[in-house]
Amino acid sequence: MQISDSSSRILAGLLEARTGQQLTMSRRWRIETALSALLRERGIATLDELITILVMGKEPSLSQQVVEALLNNETYFFRDRAPFDLLQRYALPELAQRRDKTRRLRIWSAGCSTGQEVYSIALLFAEEPEKWRGWTIDILGTDVSSGCIDRARSGTYTQFEVQRGLGINQMIKWFEECDGGWRAVEALRRPVRFQVHNILEQPPHPGGFDIILCRNVLLYLSSDRKTLAFERLAASMAEDGWLMLGAGETVIGQTGKLGADIKARGLYRLVGDGSRVEKRAGPDRRAAAAGA
Ligand SMILES: C[S@@+](CC[C@H](N)C(=O)[O-])C[C@H]1O[C@@H](n2cnc3c(N)ncnc32)[C@H](O)[C@@H]1O
Repeated sequence: MQISDSSSRILAGLLEARTGQQLTMSRRWRIETALSALLRERGIATLDELITILVMGKEPSLSQQVVEALLNNETYFFRDRAPFDLLQRYALPELAQRRDKTRRLRIWSAGCSTGQEVYSIALLFAEEPEKWRGWTIDILGTDVSSGCIDRARSGTYTQFEVQRGLGINQMIKWFEECDGGWRAVEALRRPVRFQVHNILEQPPHPGGFDIILCRNVLLYLSSDRKTLAFERLAASMAEDGWLMLGAGETVIGQTGKLGADIKARGLYRLVGDGSRVEKRAGPDRRAAAAGA
């Protein structure tokens, strides 16, 4: 199925307007594959016919479906493993001490896709029940895609999905077989909640998150949108909280509000907390000094 340049520009424009995600020329090959199931389902013969319907503006739900189909939702349990070890060895023990009085932790997975990242975090707590007894753990998963959030809420994964990142013992202990595949057990579902949310908009309640994960979400945002996203994330962190990004992602050069944690590579803190962020001069620190 061929797509004209003008049609691919319209689709890329729609995606960027709704989510900030850019479909650069080199990624436009994805369009045809990504939309083929939707075209079949809606009985639309060609991409250009789809564009005509979109441009007429008669079917608002169709444009949302198109946007959702164009998003990259790749995820799996304990993706890249090391960040979860870092949370378990460094951030969570520190928070266990610092929040000993309130015994409450708030964690936000921004751009959680179908929820595997959220249940992976819930599993870290569930595997240490003695340590966290008496604590209120609130793990919020958000995504701009309502289809992803529906799936995340169901907590149900296919055999293939549940095996990606989980060992066989973890799978049997924390998931039970059900009609659609494997469903997360109550102990994993209890601390989690999900909500449709766009990271470029006002942060979700209640804010003051101790840990925010925003992994593999900002990669294809323009520089301006990335800066805006970092501002939103920074505004919703606890003063001594952490932001975690995906492998190869950084705040450097994008915001003056966040800096690398000197003690934990891969975690970022608010720069106001100068004792704990890296002092090395870099584009982000120069921006901070200039009051950006
Ligand atoms: C590649 S997945 C990453 C999922 C998970 N964080 C991980 O690393 O495995 C990126 C997710 O970000 C979501 N996303 C993209 N733009 C977004 C936006 N502006 N606001 C919220 N979520 C967004 C997509 O729908 C997708 O589910």
